Amino acid sequence: MTGKELREKYINFFVSKEHKQISGKSLIPENDPTVLFTTAGMHPLVPYLLGEEHPAGKRVVNFQKCIRTGDIDSVGDATHLTFFEMLGNWSLGDYFKEEALSWSHEFLTSKEWLGINVDKLSVTVFEGEEETGVPPDTEAKEIWKSLGIPEDRIYMLPREDNWWGPAGETGPCGPDSEMFFDVGKEACSAACKPGCSCGKYIEIWNDVFMQYNKKKDGSYEKMSRKCVDTGMGLERTVAILTGKKSVYDTEFFIPIIKKIEQASGYSCGMDPDKDISVRIIADHVKTSVFILGDENGIKPSNVGQGYILRRILRRAIRHGRKLGITGQFLSSPASAVIEMYKDVYPQLLEKKDFVLKEIEVEEERFISTLAKGEAEFEKMVPNILKGKEKIIPGRLAFKLYDTYGFPIEITQELAAEHSLTVDREGFDEALKKHQELSKQGADKIFKGGLADSGEVTTKYHTATHLLHEALRKVLGEHVKQKGSNITAERLRFDFAHQEPMTPEEIKKVEDIVNQQIGSDHPVTMEVMTLGAAKEQGAIAFFETKYEEKVKVYVIGDFSKEVCGGPHVDRTGVIGKFKITKEQSSSAGVRRIRAEIE
Ligand code: SER
Repeated sequence: MTGKELREKYINFFVSKEHKQISGKSLIPENDPTVLFTTAGMHPLVPYLLGEEHPAGKRVVNFQKCIRTGDIDSVGDATHLTFFEMLGNWSLGDYFKEEALSWSHEFLTSKEWLGINVDKLSVTVFEGEEETGVPPDTEAKEIWKSLGIPEDRIYMLPREDNWWGPAGETGPCGPDSEMFFDVGKEACSAACKPGCSCGKYIEIWNDVFMQYNKKKDGSYEKMSRKCVDTGMGLERTVAILTGKKSVYDTEFFIPIIKKIEQASGYSCGMDPDKDISVRIIADHVKTSVFILGDENGIKPSNVGQGYILRRILRRAIRHGRKLGITGQFLSSPASAVIEMYKDVYPQLLEKKDFVLKEIEVEEERFISTLAKGEAEFEKMVPNILKGKEKIIPGRLAFKLYDTYGFPIEITQELAAEHSLTVDREGFDEALKKHQELSKQGADKIFKGGLADSGEVTTKYHTATHLLHEALRKVLGEHVKQKGSNITAERLRFDFAHQEPMTPEEIKKVEDIVNQQIGSDHPVTMEVMTLGAAKEQGAIAFFETKYEEKVKVYVIGDFSKEVCGGPHVDRTGVIGKFKITKEQSSSAGVRRIRAEIE
């Protein structure tokens, strides 16, 4: 079974159950200020899970590229990755537990589909919780029993195992039921069961029963319209189906690992520590290529997604040194990633030059200070080891960050290798003083939740459409959105245009937007195929199939744009629009920041 075959089988199976295939989306969410990356297939579907109508209907299926850095320290074991693909099917207010679990069971075990031996499967269901008043999921348990899973392979587990979501602080969530494959290893202890990290049980699929919306105040609101969100890990499932011990032994990594072996002269299997370094490099290179080569791709920086990218690239470079590589080496494994994925994700090939160039520049930057930083670190160690606390002071960690470009996480990793810890608070203080990071801090945003699609961001969203059209009117039809990001304080909009805008042009654009707000146009939405939308002259800039149904938002007679929403009902509520900055974003791309009052 190849990845290509599994993607196809999954889609075909759910299409046969009346699901519509929809496209996966960008890894970098456009209008969600509180998460940095798309972490699950459900993420782009949040508005629809909360009640908005999906243009493709109530049953959808897709595969989605995802990034999760929460488990970055486990990368290199048999199953953990920072970039992975998730297969998913959703019920948007349609079927619920009975169908979801039966179909999961059928797809996994039927000879016609995956044909996994049912004796190798164990499942978990939610044991219930007093605090939130959610009862044990006996319904799911009974369904599994009726499907032939014996009771001793159905485990009732608490929230930390069997509750999913919200993706961040707020949003849809609920009890789930996970499916595990037993690889046949000895149990690590009498207590070993699905969820144990010893590697005996591999989680391959998760069916989430989304019945709740977690609110900002921490309360759970019951949703009258119940949804199902499922996710199957592509790489893990292929590993199991092909009898491989780890995801790194599959087609998803072999070509990348070969290039790393070539660059280092090290052959995997000789030294367990070095094997882990090879895997970390392979994983991190792949993730970096996907962040840079995304449709909303970004560069390494010290904030937000750019910081995560910098951190993983630098971590890969440092692990390269552990393999004895001193020079630049990431270009060849990065090219292998593009080659492997170019058919499924063609934008990687389109952006190949940019991706390779940025990786090269980042390598150059870091390598020039890495050795000096490591030497500086080694100098600190003996003194700290003499001390009682075995803690690296925050100011020293900050020096490594500021002078040698060590992301704090790399310093922490180096420290751990010497059985030391880092005074993280002290580091954060030093950093704050220096004002290197943005107000919120990359990690904080990453841990933060999905935004309530709050009123203010909705206004910004509609204002973005007005801005887009106004720019096209003033500067010309070549203006095309290249990226957009909205917070409750401002909008940021990147668009294709060569020249800096003149003050007159800026004023004109502002005036047009304010005029359209003043006209209090109604904002309406229609569902049609992307092809029809384009024929009607709607602006559409994301990658979707021509025949796929999309939403078109129409603002009076002024703007028509393909978009997922949500938007305000009338432009009058937006308020006064002001452009606060216009600058270059990258070659041929300008960036506008604007606020509404
Ligand atoms: N959102 C759930 C998960 O990530 C199911 O896809 O496990």
